[in-house]
Amino acid sequence: MDYILKVKQLEKNYGERKAVKGISFNVKSGEILGFLGPNGAGKSTSINMIATVVDYDKGSIFFRDTDVKSDENYLKQNLGVVPQDIAVFTDLSAYDNVKFFCSLYGFKGKELKQNVEEALNFVGLWDRRKDLPSKFSGGMKRRLNIACAIAHKPKLLIMDEPTVGIDTQSRNNILETVKELNKNGTTIIYTSHYMEEVESICTNLIIMDEGSIVEEGTTEELKNKYSKDNLEEIFLQLTGKALRD
Ligand SMILES: Nc1ncnc2c1ncn2[C@@H]1O[C@H](COP(=O)(O)OP(=O)(O)OP(=O)(O)O)[C@@H](O)[C@H]1O
Ligand SMILES: [Mg+2]
Repeated sequence: MDYILKVKQLEKNYGERKAVKGISFNVKSGEILGFLGPNGAGKSTSINMIATVVDYDKGSIFFRDTDVKSDENYLKQNLGVVPQDIAVFTDLSAYDNVKFFCSLYGFKGKELKQNVEEALNFVGLWDRRKDLPSKFSGGMKRRLNIACAIAHKPKLLIMDEPTVGIDTQSRNNILETVKELNKNGTTIIYTSHYMEEVESICTNLIIMDEGSIVEEGTTEELKNKYSKDNLEEIFLQLTGKALRD
Protein backbone atom coordinates (compact mmCIF):
# COMPACT_ATOMS: atom_id res chain seq x y z
CA MET A 1 0.00 0.00 0.00
CA ASP A 2 1.25 3.46 -0.91
CA TYR A 3 0.92 5.67 2.14
CA ILE A 4 1.69 9.38 1.85
CA LEU A 5 1.52 9.89 5.62
CA LYS A 6 1.93 7.65 8.65
CA VAL A 7 1.11 8.85 12.14
CA LYS A 8 2.33 6.74 15.05
CA GLN A 9 1.34 7.04 18.70
CA LEU A 10 1.01 10.80 18.46
CA GLU A 11 0.42 12.49 21.78
CA LYS A 12 -0.15 16.07 22.95
CA ASN A 13 -0.84 17.40 26.42
CA TYR A 14 -1.74 20.95 27.34
CA GLY A 15 -0.76 20.95 31.00
CA GLU A 16 -3.08 18.42 32.64
CA ARG A 17 -5.31 18.21 29.58
CA LYS A 18 -4.63 15.27 27.29
CA ALA A 19 -5.66 16.75 23.95
CA VAL A 20 -4.41 13.83 21.79
CA LYS A 21 -3.80 10.47 23.44
CA GLY A 22 -1.40 8.51 21.26
CA ILE A 23 -3.25 8.21 17.95
CA SER A 24 -2.00 6.14 15.00
CA PHE A 25 -3.29 6.15 11.45
CA ASN A 26 -2.13 6.02 7.84
CA VAL A 27 -3.18 8.18 4.92
CA LYS A 28 -3.25 6.45 1.53
CA SER A 29 -1.99 8.34 -1.49
CA GLY A 30 -4.93 9.69 -3.45
CA GLU A 31 -7.59 9.41 -0.77
CA ILE A 32 -9.85 11.99 0.84
CA LEU A 33 -9.69 11.13 4.52
CA GLY A 34 -12.53 12.54 6.59
CA PHE A 35 -11.58 13.53 10.12
CA LEU A 36 -14.65 13.66 12.34
CA GLY A 37 -15.27 14.34 15.97
CA PRO A 38 -17.24 16.50 18.38
CA ASN A 39 -15.91 19.84 19.67
CA GLY A 40 -12.69 19.37 21.59
CA ALA A 41 -12.07 15.85 20.22
CA GLY A 42 -8.51 16.78 19.23
CA LYS A 43 -8.95 17.13 15.46
CA SER A 44 -7.29 20.52 15.07
CA THR A 45 -4.51 19.62 17.51
CA SER A 46 -3.78 16.47 15.47
CA ILE A 47 -3.87 18.38 12.20
CA ASN A 48 -1.68 21.15 13.57
CA MET A 49 0.90 18.61 14.73
CA ILE A 50 0.98 17.11 11.23
CA ALA A 51 1.30 20.62 9.81
CA THR A 52 4.27 21.19 12.16
CA VAL A 53 2.60 24.21 13.78
CA VAL A 54 2.15 22.47 17.11
CA ASP A 55 4.91 20.41 18.76
CA TYR A 56 4.04 16.93 19.96
CA ASP A 57 5.06 15.29 23.22
CA LYS A 58 5.37 11.74 21.93
CA GLY A 59 5.07 9.73 18.75
CA SER A 60 6.18 10.25 15.17
CA ILE A 61 4.96 11.39 11.79
CA PHE A 62 6.32 10.03 8.52
CA PHE A 63 5.80 11.78 5.20
CA ARG A 64 6.47 9.24 2.43
CA ASP A 65 8.60 7.20 4.83
CA THR A 66 10.70 10.19 5.94
CA ASP A 67 10.45 11.04 9.63
CA VAL A 68 9.23 14.64 9.71
CA LYS A 69 11.49 15.32 12.71
CA SER A 70 14.54 14.49 10.57
CA ASP A 71 13.46 16.52 7.53
CA GLU A 72 10.66 18.99 8.20
CA ASN A 73 11.17 20.81 4.90
CA TYR A 74 10.39 17.75 2.80
CA LEU A 75 6.88 17.65 4.27
CA LYS A 76 6.44 21.43 4.21
CA GLN A 77 7.27 21.70 0.49
CA ASN A 78 4.58 19.15 -0.27
CA LEU A 79 1.93 20.29 2.19
CA GLY A 80 -0.94 22.78 1.99
CA VAL A 81 -2.95 23.76 5.06
CA VAL A 82 -6.32 25.46 5.25
CA PRO A 83 -6.55 26.38 8.95
CA GLN A 84 -9.79 26.37 10.94
CA ASP A 85 -9.52 30.13 11.47
CA ILE A 86 -9.15 32.12 8.26
CA ALA A 87 -5.57 33.37 7.87
CA VAL A 88 -5.19 35.96 5.12
CA PHE A 89 -3.75 39.48 5.05
CA THR A 90 -6.66 41.90 5.13
CA ASP A 91 -4.62 44.77 3.67
CA LEU A 92 -3.43 42.82 0.62
CA SER A 93 -5.58 42.12 -2.45
CA ALA A 94 -6.77 38.57 -3.06
CA TYR A 95 -4.15 38.28 -5.79
CA ASP A 96 -1.30 39.50 -3.58
CA ASN A 97 -2.34 37.17 -0.77
CA VAL A 98 -2.10 34.11 -2.99
CA LYS A 99 1.12 35.43 -4.55
CA PHE A 100 2.68 35.91 -1.12
CA PHE A 101 1.91 32.38 0.07
CA CYS A 102 3.02 30.80 -3.20
CA SER A 103 6.27 32.77 -3.22
CA LEU A 104 7.16 31.28 0.17
CA TYR A 105 7.71 28.01 -1.66
CA GLY A 106 10.31 29.54 -3.93
CA PHE A 107 8.13 30.22 -6.97
CA LYS A 108 9.09 33.27 -9.04
CA GLY A 109 8.28 35.05 -12.30
CA LYS A 110 6.10 33.32 -14.88
CA GLU A 111 5.55 30.15 -12.88
CA LEU A 112 4.47 32.14 -9.82
CA LYS A 113 2.03 34.17 -11.93
CA GLN A 114 0.61 31.06 -13.50
CA ASN A 115 0.15 29.29 -10.14
CA VAL A 116 -1.61 32.32 -8.63
CA GLU A 117 -3.94 32.61 -11.61
CA GLU A 118 -4.75 28.91 -11.54
CA ALA A 119 -5.46 28.90 -7.80
CA LEU A 120 -7.74 31.94 -7.99
CA ASN A 121 -9.60 30.47 -10.96
CA PHE A 122 -9.89 27.16 -9.16
CA VAL A 123 -11.84 28.72 -6.26
CA GLY A 124 -13.81 31.06 -8.51
CA LEU A 125 -12.21 34.30 -7.34
CA TRP A 126 -10.24 35.38 -10.42
CA ASP A 127 -12.75 38.16 -11.17
CA ARG A 128 -12.34 39.47 -7.63
CA ARG A 129 -8.55 39.26 -7.54
CA LYS A 130 -8.00 43.00 -7.12
CA ASP A 131 -10.32 43.31 -4.11
CA LEU A 132 -9.30 43.32 -0.47
CA PRO A 133 -10.52 40.33 1.57
CA SER A 134 -12.29 42.78 3.90
CA LYS A 135 -14.81 43.28 1.06
CA PHE A 136 -15.43 39.53 0.82
CA SER A 137 -18.24 37.45 2.27
CA GLY A 138 -17.29 34.71 4.76
CA GLY A 139 -17.50 32.10 2.01
CA MET A 140 -15.27 34.09 -0.32
CA LYS A 141 -12.69 34.55 2.45
CA ARG A 142 -12.68 30.80 2.95
CA ARG A 143 -12.19 30.26 -0.78
CA LEU A 144 -9.30 32.73 -0.74
CA ASN A 145 -7.83 30.83 2.20
CA ILE A 146 -8.00 27.69 0.08
CA ALA A 147 -6.37 29.40 -2.92
CA CYS A 148 -3.48 30.44 -0.64
CA ALA A 149 -3.07 26.81 0.46
CA ILE A 150 -3.13 25.21 -3.01
CA ALA A 151 -1.21 27.64 -5.26
CA HIS A 152 2.10 25.78 -4.77
CA LYS A 153 0.36 22.52 -5.79
CA PRO A 154 0.85 20.50 -2.61
CA LYS A 155 0.67 16.71 -2.74
CA LEU A 156 -1.08 16.62 0.64
CA LEU A 157 -3.74 19.15 1.57
CA ILE A 158 -5.16 19.46 5.08
CA MET A 159 -8.46 21.30 5.42
CA ASP A 160 -9.76 22.08 8.90
CA GLU A 161 -13.52 22.69 8.70
CA PRO A 162 -13.39 24.73 5.49
CA THR A 163 -17.17 25.04 5.17
CA VAL A 164 -18.22 26.29 8.60
CA GLY A 165 -20.69 29.16 8.59
CA ILE A 166 -20.79 29.88 4.88
CA ASP A 167 -23.41 30.22 2.16
CA THR A 168 -24.51 27.31 -0.03
CA GLN A 169 -22.83 28.66 -3.16
CA SER A 170 -19.43 28.86 -1.48
CA ARG A 171 -19.94 25.49 0.16
CA ASN A 172 -20.69 23.86 -3.18
CA ASN A 173 -17.73 25.64 -4.74
CA ILE A 174 -15.45 24.32 -1.99
CA LEU A 175 -16.75 20.76 -2.27
CA GLU A 176 -16.27 20.82 -6.05
CA THR A 177 -12.78 22.26 -5.54
CA VAL A 178 -11.91 19.44 -3.15
CA LYS A 179 -13.15 16.79 -5.60
CA GLU A 180 -11.31 18.38 -8.50
CA LEU A 181 -8.04 18.70 -6.56
CA ASN A 182 -8.33 15.06 -5.56
CA LYS A 183 -8.97 14.03 -9.16
CA ASN A 184 -5.77 15.85 -10.09
CA GLY A 185 -3.82 13.72 -7.62
CA THR A 186 -3.91 15.66 -4.34
CA THR A 187 -4.37 13.60 -1.17
CA ILE A 188 -6.68 15.38 1.26
CA ILE A 189 -7.36 15.25 4.99
CA TYR A 190 -10.74 16.88 5.50
CA THR A 191 -12.24 17.88 8.82
CA SER A 192 -15.92 18.64 9.02
CA HIS A 193 -18.97 18.63 11.25
CA TYR A 194 -21.26 17.95 8.32
CA MET A 195 -22.08 14.31 7.64
CA GLU A 196 -23.57 14.91 4.19
CA GLU A 197 -20.31 16.53 3.09
CA VAL A 198 -18.18 13.81 4.51
CA GLU A 199 -20.35 11.15 2.89
CA SER A 200 -20.28 12.82 -0.49
CA ILE A 201 -16.54 13.41 -0.76
CA CYS A 202 -14.53 11.22 1.66
CA THR A 203 -13.16 7.84 0.67
CA ASN A 204 -12.21 6.93 4.24
CA LEU A 205 -13.20 8.15 7.70
CA ILE A 206 -11.59 8.55 11.10
CA ILE A 207 -13.78 9.33 14.07
CA MET A 208 -12.09 10.94 17.07
CA ASP A 209 -13.44 11.52 20.54
CA GLU A 210 -11.69 12.82 23.65
CA GLY A 211 -8.24 12.61 22.10
CA SER A 212 -8.53 9.07 20.73
CA ILE A 213 -9.55 7.45 17.46
CA VAL A 214 -12.75 5.56 18.22
CA GLU A 215 -13.45 4.19 14.75
CA GLU A 216 -12.17 4.20 11.19
CA GLY A 217 -13.15 2.79 7.82
CA THR A 218 -15.09 3.62 4.71
CA THR A 219 -18.65 4.88 5.01
CA GLU A 220 -19.88 1.51 3.71
CA GLU A 221 -17.79 -0.44 6.21
CA LEU A 222 -19.09 1.62 9.13
CA LYS A 223 -22.68 1.36 7.99
CA ASN A 224 -22.38 -2.42 7.69
CA LYS A 225 -20.58 -2.84 10.98
CA TYR A 226 -23.17 -0.87 12.93
CA SER A 227 -26.14 -2.00 10.81
CA LYS A 228 -27.17 1.60 10.32
CA ASP A 229 -27.56 3.55 7.11
CA ASN A 230 -26.99 6.88 8.78
CA LEU A 231 -23.51 8.09 9.72
CA GLU A 232 -24.94 10.59 12.17
CA GLU A 233 -26.48 7.77 14.23
CA ILE A 234 -23.21 5.81 14.18
CA PHE A 235 -21.41 8.90 15.37
CA LEU A 236 -23.90 9.39 18.19
CA GLN A 237 -23.57 5.76 19.25
CA LEU A 238 -19.77 5.97 19.33
CA THR A 239 -19.33 9.31 21.05
CA GLY A 240 -22.62 9.88 22.82
CA LYS A 241 -22.56 13.34 21.24
CA ALA A 242 -24.28 14.98 18.32
CA LEU A 243 -21.90 15.91 15.57
CA ARG A 244 -22.80 19.54 15.21
CA ASP A 245 -22.21 22.24 17.80
N1 LIG B 1 -3.52 26.03 22.67
C1 LIG B 1 -4.19 25.29 23.55
N2 LIG B 1 -4.00 25.42 24.87
C2 LIG B 1 -4.67 24.66 25.75
N3 LIG B 1 -5.59 23.73 25.42
C3 LIG B 1 -5.83 23.57 24.11
C4 LIG B 1 -5.15 24.33 23.11
N4 LIG B 1 -5.61 23.93 21.89
C5 LIG B 1 -6.52 22.98 22.13
N5 LIG B 1 -6.66 22.75 23.45
C6 LIG B 1 -7.54 21.75 24.07
O1 LIG B 1 -7.30 20.50 23.47
C7 LIG B 1 -8.52 19.79 23.25
C8 LIG B 1 -8.66 19.46 21.77
O2 LIG B 1 -8.89 20.69 21.04
P1 LIG B 1 -8.97 20.75 19.47
O3 LIG B 1 -9.01 22.19 19.09
O4 LIG B 1 -7.89 19.91 18.89
O5 LIG B 1 -10.37 20.06 19.19
P2 LIG B 1 -11.21 19.95 17.85
O6 LIG B 1 -11.56 18.52 17.70
O7 LIG B 1 -10.50 20.60 16.74
O8 LIG B 1 -12.54 20.75 18.21
P3 LIG B 1 -13.49 21.72 17.30
O9 LIG B 1 -14.44 20.79 16.60
O10 LIG B 1 -14.20 22.54 18.32
O11 LIG B 1 -12.63 22.50 16.39
C9 LIG B 1 -9.63 20.67 23.82
O12 LIG B 1 -9.90 20.23 25.12
C10 LIG B 1 -9.02 22.05 23.82
O13 LIG B 1 -9.56 22.85 24.84
MG1 LIG C 1 -10.93 22.17 15.50
